[in-house]
Amino acid sequence: MADLSVTVNGMKFKNPFVIGSGPPGTNYKTMAKSFDCGWGGVIAKTVSLDSTEVINVAPRYGKLRLSDYDAKGNKNVIGFQNIELISDLSLQEWLDDFRRVKDDYPEDIVIASIMEQHEKDRWQELTGLIMETGVDGFELNFSCPHGHPERQMGAAMGQNPDVIEEVTRWVAETTELPIWAKMTPNISDIRLPARAAMAGGASGVAAINTILSVIGVDLDTLKPQPTVQGGSTPGGYSYRAVKPIALRMVSELCRDQPDMPVSGIGGVAEARDAIEFLLMGASTVQVCTGAMLQGHKMVKHLIEGLDKFLDEKGFASVDDIIGKSLPYFTTHHELVERQLAAKLAKAGQKNRDKEWGENMAEVTDQLTTN
Ligand SMILES: Cc1cc2nc3c(=O)[nH]c(=O)nc-3n(C[C@H](O)[C@H](O)[C@H](O)COP(=O)(O)O)c2cc1C
Repeated sequence: MADLSVTVNGMKFKNPFVIGSGPPGTNYKTMAKSFDCGWGGVIAKTVSLDSTEVINVAPRYGKLRLSDYDAKGNKNVIGFQNIELISDLSLQEWLDDFRRVKDDYPEDIVIASIMEQHEKDRWQELTGLIMETGVDGFELNFSCPHGHPERQMGAAMGQNPDVIEEVTRWVAETTELPIWAKMTPNISDIRLPARAAMAGGASGVAAINTILSVIGVDLDTLKPQPTVQGGSTPGGYSYRAVKPIALRMVSELCRDQPDMPVSGIGGVAEARDAIEFLLMGASTVQVCTGAMLQGHKMVKHLIEGLDKFLDEKGFASVDDIIGKSLPYFTTHHELVERQLAAKLAKAGQKNRDKEWGENMAEVTDQLTTN
């Protein structure tokens, strides 16, 4: 069996599969379940200082299916939308849960995801309190696309590189623990907020959070979904359909800052998806919706699939494949040049007398420079 462990910013993950912030890591019970099933780490559900501001609605999810076939199951779900807010557990409950999970699973990696208003004292107080519980690191949620934009939280912050740099610096001043800044895809150039986060003292970035979306419209009522008391609001899109966008963004980040650790997220439903993120340069891979739809036990298939891939291709460790596909990217211009060169080379091979036949004029053209 190949070595599946990865060490990122000094944190040793027994495998690169990490629960992404959301329902699958939303309290002690779900974090413990994640480790019992074999996940390499957990990013806990995002927490803030005051949970009384967090009022969720139900329903708050919507699914996009490939077809109506098997409409009740999850096999043909390709996209998922949520309008869920951050955790509604109190900070005290979270502090207890972080302590308990680190006591019970000292070898497993627990990263706290935090989010606050644009106030230095609030970010530093939150960081300081959570740091004391023994968590291994922090993820800064600069990326939730819905909920509390009026308080300049989440993506409202993550779309402003100057604010990202400032807030990351506030956290970095407070803790020596690793800090990953979680990026929003709802921006035209994801490299800019990542550069700002690193300038502010981040140890790496996580990408991507959900993509702002409208999952569909109920053709009977004409109301957009998910519908709550007759109304709706755009939400965050995730699962299989977002993977190509996430892979592109992760590749852009890894090509722009090759030494920056990137935790890849978005649309991982099976082992091959996760392997693709590793090949794009991610050193860990987060999964949120996949674990919601398939259960925590899906990690067993991720581990088996990665192990089989490494063995079959003759790689000794996960480290050997991180970023392995990046050198193949080039510009469209360069592709055209290569194509031209290949055509000329092929024409050169025609320079053998047996190639001459019916197509006399065409071959003559290929061998002529003007
Ligand atoms: C129901 C739900 C709740 C989420 N809550 C959070 C959250 O509290 N904080 C956060 O940073 N990301 C949150 N996310 C985003 C995920 O962590 C992840 O970035 C995104 O869903 C893409 O990955 P996936 O396709 O594996 O779900 C949430 C996603 C879902 C589906």
